[in-house]
Amino acid sequence: MAPIKQKTIGNNILLYTDDLFSEVSVEMFEAGYWQEQNKIIGQATGRGTTFFFREKSRDFVLRHYRRGGLIGKLIKDQYFYTGLENTRAYQEMHLLNTMHAKNLPVPQAVAAKIARHGMLYRADLILQKIPQANDVFTILLTQQLPATIWHKIGVAIRQLHEQQIYHHDLNIHNIMLDNNDKVWLIDFDKCKQRKGDAWMADNLNRLQRSLLKEQAKHPDFKWQLHDWQYCIEGYEQGIK
Ligand SMILES: Nc1ncnc2c1ncn2[C@@H]1O[C@H](COP(=O)(O)OP(=O)(O)O)[C@@H](O)[C@H]1O
Ligand SMILES: [Mg+2]
Repeated sequence: MAPIKQKTIGNNILLYTDDLFSEVSVEMFEAGYWQEQNKIIGQATGRGTTFFFREKSRDFVLRHYRRGGLIGKLIKDQYFYTGLENTRAYQEMHLLNTMHAKNLPVPQAVAAKIARHGMLYRADLILQKIPQANDVFTILLTQQLPATIWHKIGVAIRQLHEQQIYHHDLNIHNIMLDNNDKVWLIDFDKCKQRKGDAWMADNLNRLQRSLLKEQAKHPDFKWQLHDWQYCIEGYEQGIK
């Protein structure tokens, strides 16, 4: 496992693993820094805006931690600081590092910034961009997926659960498919290793609810309840 290094600059704590980012700076976590150099190659809007940038022939994702729900309307991106190890960015970076070492289909974490402001902090994360991939939600807006892919999605979730990793927000936007038909899982904010198995079915139910919700919202959504069965079969069989 690549060790996670740490550096403090003013009130910022920077975490980084990748050799490419041996010279980490506070500016690297600002979209404007990449924009000025014309290195932004795209963006995705979810809760906030996720930017994609290219540096030294490699593609990265830059994500700012933002709150969702009601609290999020008042306090958009600040969290209580109760120690570095409890920060969202530290936890996601460490979890991704552990998962990567176990060969799980997740992007590699590259660097994180935790900016302290007294009792509060803001945080950002830089990840490896999954090459030539689309999230499954976007694919399903125009294209149906074959049973083999649904099966693979089930297998990927099973792999995660075999390592006791709970996904806090397993919805169809957080599953990606690349041009080699490999399934990837993303968005590990608030995810963690958990004991037991009571929560595993909740993860699957959450995903099914997300599919049903999108189907109700988009009349032409290319998913049917029938496809769910292939996903469950993949989950039950796991990797053989
Ligand atoms: N590592 C990645 N590689 C490629 N695309 C990504 C990656 N991480 C996120 N994305 C894209 O950006 C979107 C939003 O990112 P995500 O991490 O899910 O943030 P949020 O859901 O909080 O907005 C995803 O649905 C996906 O389309
Ligand atoms: Mg997401």
